[in-house]
Amino acid sequence: MTTTDADTLSTLIRTRRSARDFSPRAIPEDLLKTVLEDANWAPSWSNTQPYRVAVASGELRDRLSAELCELFDLGMAAQKGGLWAKLKLLLNRRGIPDGDFPTQFKYPDDLQARRRATGGGLYELLGIGRKDLAARDQQMRRNFEFFGAPTVLFLFAHKGLHEFSVLDSGVFLQTLMLSAHANGLATCAQGALATWASPVRAAFRIPPQYQLICGVSMGYPSQAPVNQYNPGRGNVGQLLVPTS
Ligand SMILES: Cc1cc2nc3c(=O)[nH]c(=O)nc-3n(C[C@H](O)[C@H](O)[C@H](O)COP(=O)(O)O)c2cc1C
Repeated sequence: MTTTDADTLSTLIRTRRSARDFSPRAIPEDLLKTVLEDANWAPSWSNTQPYRVAVASGELRDRLSAELCELFDLGMAAQKGGLWAKLKLLLNRRGIPDGDFPTQFKYPDDLQARRRATGGGLYELLGIGRKDLAARDQQMRRNFEFFGAPTVLFLFAHKGLHEFSVLDSGVFLQTLMLSAHANGLATCAQGALATWASPVRAAFRIPPQYQLICGVSMGYPSQAPVNQYNPGRGNVGQLLVPTS
């Protein structure tokens, strides 16, 4: 039996998983370039390619992680603390989300079940109990450590195409993640990394018309069991809307 391109693509699509624990092994520069060159072929609205990417490895990656972790800690201290802690946050402003899009919001009722199942399955695999809020916060903090990945990318969408540049950014994101996977790398797209934009804006010359939509941790996956997590999908019957 011969393996067709369709088989290969289908396997790649179905076996890509979000990694949440990376080996510190650096991504060879050429390999990162290949993945970016592939992603650059993503289709977009009128071929406007209305997105930009900021890539951080090495020292810059470490600095951004430290700054984002600090902001996370400040935000958590205010959330968990009393009135004084909350006042302090309001006065200092450091720790208040300053991203271009809100990342903390109430989920719509009809999406709650999937959200809970996905989070619940992940925590169960990590051995984190439902009521262990401290361990949950620690796991959330891992987002800002980029789950140990040696490289992090920040994806920006142009303001001027409304939702369509965000849509295009999503197409770009999946193209990037699939190419990474095909090249033996793992990724985790992270909306959490859009919570604070100031450290990334200070480190890169981001044109003002571009808004931070998400981050992506990238590297070689570790052997940690968390990387086996597969939250599955609803079936296609649930995806398709019936005729009226
Ligand atoms: C736009 C986007 C944002 C995401 N944000 C996060 C995040 O902040 N933290 C995280 O651990 N996973 C994040 N994920 C990963 C999803 O939880 C994951 O894709 C989903 O559960 C399906 O699992 P899979 O990618 O392993 O198939 C994000 C994924 C996408 C596409």
